[in-house]
Amino acid sequence: MDIKQRVLGRIMQWWGPRGGLAQFHHPTGAVGHVAGWIMGRRSSNVARNRWAVQLLDVQPTDRVIELGCGPGVAIAALATRAIRGLVVGVDHSQVMIRQARRRNRAAIRAGRVRLIHTPVERLSISDRPFNAALAVNTVGMWPDPTARLHELARLLRPGGRIALVSQPRCPGATAATSAAAANELAGLLTEAGFEHLRTEMLELDPPAACVLGHVAPADDAELVARPTARS
Ligand SMILES: C[S@@+](CC[C@H](N)C(=O)[O-])C[C@H]1O[C@@H](n2cnc3c(N)ncnc32)[C@H](O)[C@@H]1O
Repeated sequence: MDIKQRVLGRIMQWWGPRGGLAQFHHPTGAVGHVAGWIMGRRSSNVARNRWAVQLLDVQPTDRVIELGCGPGVAIAALATRAIRGLVVGVDHSQVMIRQARRRNRAAIRAGRVRLIHTPVERLSISDRPFNAALAVNTVGMWPDPTARLHELARLLRPGGRIALVSQPRCPGATAATSAAAANELAGLLTEAGFEHLRTEMLELDPPAACVLGHVAPADDAELVARPTARS
């Protein structure tokens, strides 16, 4: 590990238990700017975002939405893949949207990235549907995550893909904490109607868990809808 990463790790070890973690929920002001700066540079954070984007298997013409995009690390990785599509990033922190904008300036200018400053619970978006959705270390911060995931399913095409990532950052987190987080995400996705779930782990300390799923394809949706229509 290089010196910069060691320093960032030490800052987090000191800062996290002293209230720093709150700044990762809703970064504001100068301290929020530091939180975003760390998220944009900490190697484990960058690695888990790039890994999640790779797992999402984004195609050149895909339209992808990321909720809780923070400083825009995954947005940048998504934009290098969706080169003829669109990447939309959503975050309730003005500081994060500003950093994400800076990190993705060229793609925004080219009309391939759009950033929206809003809480996910108030997201209203007209130009759906999307092919894929991503959320990294943010679902646990949303009010009523099942309701949010239901809304997200409606933004996706039939068969659309989703990836939810969790790398627990609480002090003392272990591989067991990551496995429990993965189970929780899988439960939320199942409740929200996503199918064909699979979990991948990235060997970080602690591991990052990514739960992937699909919205029912159009044919399945019809099969599910029919009995309800008759009853
Ligand atoms: C721990 S950070 C992760 C950021 C980014 N996904 C990453 O991995 O680098 C959580 C992000 O979710 C955002 N967030 C939390 N709750 C939110 C909500 N209800 N609506 C929109 N964004 C939210 C925060 O502002 C923050 O940028």
